[in-house]
Amino acid sequence: MSQQLEQVKALIALREKARMGGGLKRIDSQHAKGKYTARERINMLLDEGSFEEYDMFVTHRCTNFGMEKNTFLGDGVVTGYGTINGRLVYVFAQDFTIFGGSLSESLALKICKVMDQAMKMGAPVIGINDSGGARIQEGINALAGYTEIFQRNILASGVIPQISAIFGPCAGGAVYSPALTDFNIMAKGTSYMFLTGPTVVKSVTGEDITQENLGGASVHSSKSGVAHFTVDTEEEGLQLIKELLSYLPQNNMEETPLVETSDPIDRLEDSLNEIIPDNPNKPYDIYEVIGGIVDDGKFLEVHADYAKNIVVGFARFNGQSVGIVANQPKVLAGVLDISSSRKGARFVRFCDAFNIPIVTLVDVPGFLPGSQQEYGGVILHGAKLLYAYGEATVPKVTVVLRKAYGGAYCVMSSKHLRGDINYAWPTAEIAVMGPSGAIGILYGKEMKEAEDPAAFAAEKEKEYRDAFANPYNAAKYGYIDDVIEPRNTRFRIIRALQQLATKKLTNPAKKHDNLPL
Ligand code: HXC
Repeated sequence: MSQQLEQVKALIALREKARMGGGLKRIDSQHAKGKYTARERINMLLDEGSFEEYDMFVTHRCTNFGMEKNTFLGDGVVTGYGTINGRLVYVFAQDFTIFGGSLSESLALKICKVMDQAMKMGAPVIGINDSGGARIQEGINALAGYTEIFQRNILASGVIPQISAIFGPCAGGAVYSPALTDFNIMAKGTSYMFLTGPTVVKSVTGEDITQENLGGASVHSSKSGVAHFTVDTEEEGLQLIKELLSYLPQNNMEETPLVETSDPIDRLEDSLNEIIPDNPNKPYDIYEVIGGIVDDGKFLEVHADYAKNIVVGFARFNGQSVGIVANQPKVLAGVLDISSSRKGARFVRFCDAFNIPIVTLVDVPGFLPGSQQEYGGVILHGAKLLYAYGEATVPKVTVVLRKAYGGAYCVMSSKHLRGDINYAWPTAEIAVMGPSGAIGILYGKEMKEAEDPAAFAAEKEKEYRDAFANPYNAAKYGYIDDVIEPRNTRFRIIRALQQLATKKLTNPAKKHDNLPL
């Protein structure tokens, strides 16, 4: 055998060794936990045969605790690039079979390399997290490595989409990389995220809590909002990443490619002409409205289990990707509160950063009153949503379906926050506050003195409704561009988006804004 052929064979053997990660036993143990290995995950995620790996031969450089005798090719993360539906993406997947995917200096450098490449090429980065955190033997070098990644997450924010899948442990400061990315996907039962685990929690606060209850997928999807999506299986999570990317551009200088649809642009959705109940206090389901107007009824909801009084997610109109923000009358009457304001604001800012037009469907009775909300800073959190809409320069189309009261009217992409096209259904009620609140303030004294206070209030409420609880008062001033037939909403939104396709609007030059955090 020639020397060259021997060298080629040695390369093939080395590659094979690297592909085995931490060895068969640890791969089996990974599978036994119901988890895939880093390479299996990447293969499932990317278009077949498209993966090109970087740094397969990297090893750690640590000599503490006899680590120099304990090295693995690749050192706990698989990195590289490939395509998803033909579009370039960069990817890293922590390999739990090597030192529990713990982060060494070398491992961090591998991740930084793909992030730097992604920024140069203007392509999304997908990180699959499954790691015991900072590699304990490396001390400060592991911390430095993490922070180098954080710095890149920060600089990439708003430039390229960053998506994190959490398919195992993600604890300590390690959580901050996913937290800095745009979307976190958590797998039920196998993933958890927390700053300090149950043992430390117990010793510091005395609280007894399991990993799942402290930082499992359901906690972060419904209570903290850290997770944007939860999935039952890793396969589902990887499929979700592909779907999510289809709604996003490659970077902030590009637009999302159009997706062909056979759904007619002028499809009438007759059910919408009768969806609003006669009783203004009765709810209806905003998902029926969304499903009725978007292409093929397809809606990718973000934060589905968190702050359900507002619904956000991606859909398409005539093939064009849009972000939808909608109050949900079925939950807390669609009121705006701390959590829903934060959720809405984050989504609006993401869409604006990535040139995705925003369609807002409004049915909001106002902001939730009360000490809990005030103590929690609803003023600041509500201001986030206000700020997000006000700074957004992407096309903004708004439809007021029913209530748009008080500050919530202003906030929900009103004309005054540079809403481009603002429609209302004939059922819209736009006023400073709802009828009963207004009557209580305007006629409180007379009501007490009236012979029949209930009848008096009903008469005054009718007067108020006739005067204010309609869209025509706002339309009179041009704050509503047109009052539209509900069943024609899809067509009107598509026409509006077509008109706004060439919109150009920039904000004043500044170093950065001072969003009310
Ligand atoms: C070095 C680690 C490691 C770590 C796990 N391993 N975590 N090696 N540094 N941080 C190794 C184990 O020694 C073991 O090696 C292998 O990975 C698998 O770990 P097991 O414990 O056998 O697996 P499992 O029972 O599934 O438990 C997983 C785990 C546990 C829950 C993640 O390993 C664990 O608690 N690890 C420590 C977590 C942690 O506290 N990390 C530091 C967080 S603070 P062998 O050779 O036996 O296969 C932090 C600060 C970051 O990260 C700050 C950034 C700013």
